[in-house]
Amino acid sequence: MNESIGELIDICSGTLAGVSDSPRLDCQLLLGHVLGKGRDWLFAHSDEPLDCRAKHRFTELIQRRQNGEPVAYLIGKKGFWNREFELSPSTLIPRPETELLVELALARFDGQPRQVLDLGTGTGALAVTLAAERPDWQLLAVDIDKEAVEVAQRNAADLANININEGNWFNGITQVFDLIVSNPPYIAEGDPHLDALAFEPAQALASGADGLDAIREIISHASDHLAEGGHLLLEHGYDQQATIVQMLDDAGFTGIETFEDLSGQPRAVLAKNVRSTRDDDE
Ligand SMILES: C[S@@+](CC[C@H](N)C(=O)[O-])C[C@H]1O[C@@H](n2cnc3c(N)ncnc32)[C@H](O)[C@@H]1O
Repeated sequence: MNESIGELIDICSGTLAGVSDSPRLDCQLLLGHVLGKGRDWLFAHSDEPLDCRAKHRFTELIQRRQNGEPVAYLIGKKGFWNREFELSPSTLIPRPETELLVELALARFDGQPRQVLDLGTGTGALAVTLAAERPDWQLLAVDIDKEAVEVAQRNAADLANININEGNWFNGITQVFDLIVSNPPYIAEGDPHLDALAFEPAQALASGADGLDAIREIISHASDHLAEGGHLLLEHGYDQQATIVQMLDDAGFTGIETFEDLSGQPRAVLAKNVRSTRDDDE
């Protein structure tokens, strides 16, 4: 049967109804990806038929979506802030809640030259966005995953003020920063939510028995890499804020502020380093 574009979208939206919260949008994005067209084009050409090859490719993608594979992996990209990010199975899909860190960094720190570090950069969502928004900042971003680093480097290809390296948190970093940002893995191993995230890399999501291993590691070494008066900005799980505030306090940070995401969930902390890196040498 040779359905029109509009009919095919209707049929496949029904197929995805039990799988996705946005079945129609998913179908439009997947068909748009197959045809290399935007949603406006699909709408304007909804009465036209689809050729057999395109229909075959679209049907394959719908089947993979039906099996739970996220649209972002199927089309290989995701919008974050005001840019489109390439992604791969080795990178986390950038989340809208992580835009809170961008908002905070831009609201709290003006455009004067700053050294900024992004730990666990994934697609580069945070570091690339900050580098694009603040041309006078110099960004260093690291990730332990080689393939993620390559993806992030491609996402940063148009920017001169960012370097992206493979690395294990602060290992090998000798520089001192004005701002460290991180959206590290923070889900507890064994958390049932991980089942629904099976297509995303475990290394990007889970972090020890309580989900706090990465955050503990970052907080315990951050002062060594922050200028006196420099700041640490972290994303965290909705139920981790009080524990993290205590960790920051114990580590000697001051001016600790807490923030909620757009859903009203506790999601980020900002803290100021008072220790001079020279203290260690005295
Ligand atoms: C939650 S994802 C965040 C990705 C990206 N910053 C974002 O917000 O979309 C955490 C990232 O930390 C990286 N990661 C995990 N362990 C790491 C380590 N020991 N050192 C550096 N990066 C690490 C993962 O590979 C993953 O890309």
